[in-house]
Amino acid sequence: ELHRIPHPPRRLPFLGDVLGAHARTPLQDSMRVGRRLGPIFRRKAFGKEFVFVWGAELAADLADEARFAKHVGLGVANLRPVAGDGLFTAYNHEPNWQLAHDILAPGFSREAMAGYHPLMLDVARQLTARWDEREAAGRAVDVPGDMTKLTLETIARTGFGHDFGSFERSAPHPFVSAMVGTLSFAQRRNVVPPPLAPVLLWSADRRNDADMAYLNRTVDAVVAARRAASATGGHGDLLDRMLEVAHPETGERLSPENIRRQVITFLVAGHETTSGALSFALHYLSRSPDVLARARAEVDEVWGTEEEPAYEQVAKLRYVRRVLDESLRLWPTAPGFAREAREDTVLGGVHPMRRGAWALVLATMLHRDPAAWGERPEEFDPDRFTPSAVRARPAHVFKPFGTGARACIGRQFALHEATLVLGLLLRRYDLHPDPGYRLRVAERLTLMPDGLTLRLTRRSPAA
Ligand code: HEM
Repeated sequence: ELHRIPHPPRRLPFLGDVLGAHARTPLQDSMRVGRRLGPIFRRKAFGKEFVFVWGAELAADLADEARFAKHVGLGVANLRPVAGDGLFTAYNHEPNWQLAHDILAPGFSREAMAGYHPLMLDVARQLTARWDEREAAGRAVDVPGDMTKLTLETIARTGFGHDFGSFERSAPHPFVSAMVGTLSFAQRRNVVPPPLAPVLLWSADRRNDADMAYLNRTVDAVVAARRAASATGGHGDLLDRMLEVAHPETGERLSPENIRRQVITFLVAGHETTSGALSFALHYLSRSPDVLARARAEVDEVWGTEEEPAYEQVAKLRYVRRVLDESLRLWPTAPGFAREAREDTVLGGVHPMRRGAWALVLATMLHRDPAAWGERPEEFDPDRFTPSAVRARPAHVFKPFGTGARACIGRQFALHEATLVLGLLLRRYDLHPDPGYRLRVAERLTLMPDGLTLRLTRRSPAA
């Protein structure tokens, strides 16, 4: 059934196509292969065949929820040991998915978001205090490092009433190091042959056990602190929902083990990708003076002279939002997602798929398909997201948050947080890129601009 799907020409026994693959950048490696082989292709590794899809038409077909569903495979499956049947890594058939989804979805409603807004502002203030110090000292800022501090504190404070104190330390919080360790390990397990894994990954495996134990200990402490304090009244946040809310119809509750999985899931999924999205956006803004000027003019106009924006004033930053969308188009920080056939079907009317067969959608390449994005897909241009430009494009060609029932539950949260922070930073600083910097994208399942620094100057108060 795969014979119509192209693959790289030279294939080695057992190792398949992985030799010559770049172990630290498997996604960018697949992008290179995809450019050569076209909108659907396969790569073989260790006796297994993986199908990749990026053509706009095929990806739109895979978005058909009647015939396809999320597949928990590759990197996502490798996170099962740490995230278990938490929302992100749950199999579709696991009852805890629907249960947790129904219990937690109201935590992302408009009212809930409006409630998080003041906490998001608190954390953003910690960021600008740190950047003011750097600016005064004439030092550059570590963009991904500081965006990670910001987004981790934001999800921890809003979702769990917890303060990691990231801004009080110079190094990343150990929770972040442990998380990066487990994400990188999950990625490496895809590029090491299973029979050799016990040898090649022996020491990495031990470290991963230690990282997972650290994550578990951290969330257990967060939960224990809440249980101890809960007599003093509810926060109404995600953790309260997990601990106290029963399913509206069945009355069922989340088990303590599942709560542990959900807390890890939300602490990780709730910050890592948003941090990357903000970092890429700041990279492009610092390199695109016209875009930056328009974005800043919008902030000045919409927010006026008020010290801090109200909740409703964030979504009004339409152009800033387009800057974010365009950054997520070029570098969707969760760069792919897998789809499996619910029943025997034919993908795009051409490729037969058996029930359970699956393909990985390469969002980075889908977002560059000239059929949807025109002849210069590499160009950064936020005007691709004006309402009329969006209407003129086919559906299902922009998927940074996945698709269907298992799409990102935190989308509005991420967009509100990121738009708010970009607005605050644009209003406060001029951004000066390091002229020698060329964008390098680091991969640890998620994407992050590697080594990105910026110099800042405060805008004159009159502005
Ligand atoms: C799912 C991307 C922010 C929580 C997903 C998926 C994608 C994604 C692509 C689907 C994965 C798949 O199909 O396998 C992103 C990006 C973000 C972001 C690019 C930021 C720019 C957030 C935030 C939260 C969050 C802020 C929580 C506060 C989740 C959860 C799921 C998910 C729990 C699993 C949903 C389910 O299967 O029911 N995200 N996400 N994400 N995301 Fe996000």
